[in-house]
Amino acid sequence: MCLQLIQYHRNNSQINETYKLMMKLTGIKACVFDAYGTLFDVHAAVGKHKHKLGAQADPVSMMWRTKQLEYTWLRSLMRCHEDFWQITQDGLDYALDAHSISDDAVRKDLLDAYWKLDAYPEVADMLRSLKDAGLKCAILSNGSMPMLQAAVDNAGIGDLLDGIYSVDEVGINKPDPSVYELATKHLGVSDKEISFQSSNAWDAVAAAHYGFNVVWINRFGQRRERLPAQPDIELTSLEGLVDVVAE
Ligand code: LAC
Repeated sequence: MCLQLIQYHRNNSQINETYKLMMKLTGIKACVFDAYGTLFDVHAAVGKHKHKLGAQADPVSMMWRTKQLEYTWLRSLMRCHEDFWQITQDGLDYALDAHSISDDAVRKDLLDAYWKLDAYPEVADMLRSLKDAGLKCAILSNGSMPMLQAAVDNAGIGDLLDGIYSVDEVGINKPDPSVYELATKHLGVSDKEISFQSSNAWDAVAAAHYGFNVVWINRFGQRRERLPAQPDIELTSLEGLVDVVAE
């Protein structure tokens, strides 16, 4: 079981406290999931075409994801929203250029694979166990609706979801609070009745700051962010989630 009791020490110029975080959430009615990196494996696209990129495969994949996220944050600050599919292409073009790769066929293969990203292996069973426990399940993502629908269809998890909510509706990306608000609005439950799951540390922090209960799915062994608010629980995959959120 990957549930851990997290005890950590936050230490900066203003704050020096020891937090003892809880092991189980109570009063949860809905589980809301980040999509990319949490349900869907963002490195699966390059993984499928690794042989075409050789030693550059992993650095390209890492840079692709990094630039994609940076562009979402920057565009939000610049107030010039763009569809996540375009941002995904822009991030890839930056990464390919940075690695001196100029191959239209490879670019197309990578984008086709990103459109149908693999879900992590535990996702379908995890959603089924949450539904069996009477919880609502939904996706809340920067992804555009057509991208999210394609990934959901590819993973065959559409019937396990009560909703797919995209930033398309508010025209700004996470961590803008108006994005997190979409979940309470559509699900008809309060902030504290939601457990939000993200593998992205910054997303987990922002959702906690907004007011959700948060389970950080720390798949990549990231450090805790030095930002206001912290996730309540940390898991290494979605496998043990039902034990944390179901009564
Ligand atoms: C998402 C990105 C942030 O799905 O992973 O919203």
